[in-house]
Amino acid sequence: MNEQMESLLYEALETEIGGVQVYTNAVRCAQNDELREEWEKYLEQTMRHEEILREVFETLGLDADKETPGRKVVRHIGESLVQAMTMALKEGEPEAAQIVAAECVVLAETKDHQNWELLGEIAKKLAGKEKKAISDAHGEVEDEEDEHLYHTQGWSRELWLDHLGLAAVLPPPEEKKDVKTAIGAARAKQSRKEMTRGRKGRAAHAETS
Ligand SMILES: [Fe+2]
Repeated sequence: MNEQMESLLYEALETEIGGVQVYTNAVRCAQNDELREEWEKYLEQTMRHEEILREVFETLGLDADKETPGRKVVRHIGESLVQAMTMALKEGEPEAAQIVAAECVVLAETKDHQNWELLGEIAKKLAGKEKKAISDAHGEVEDEEDEHLYHTQGWSRELWLDHLGLAAVLPPPEEKKDVKTAIGAARAKQSRKEMTRGRKGRAAHAETS
């Protein structure tokens, strides 16, 4: 494994560590019961992802506590996301804070998702115990990472639409369709048009605007 691959591993670990903090705070911002349950589940899964990565570090003989320039930046972003949610909570508008939290989760999970996608590519190029350690870890988390990103993107979009007084599908179609791929997410987003068509009230308002 080369230096660049190693630095990605450190960023990935720091992303999961920050992810635990992001979800801990996002749960505090959740107003919708289903969303809270979802984030509680993702929090647990993210704690497990951190553990899985720590096991990879151990197998590869890497020091998980080593500071790297890349992980410093990742930590800074994670802390900023937590601050953003704290700020939103202090404003005393629960609905708005919930949306801020959904956006923070999407930002954190975008990085997390890409880390694992890249780790999957790295695993293909490696051999021996390095290959095994990373591809086993990747196999274990991949589906969950897809769900974390695509489902929360759906929540973020629908919570905003609802907040704007427009037709919203809650829980989002990504949730109902159990989306785990980018193409599935695109289809779910497409399907919301049929789901909101013909609805009364907010939906009707959305159609005429
Ligand atoms: Fe993760």
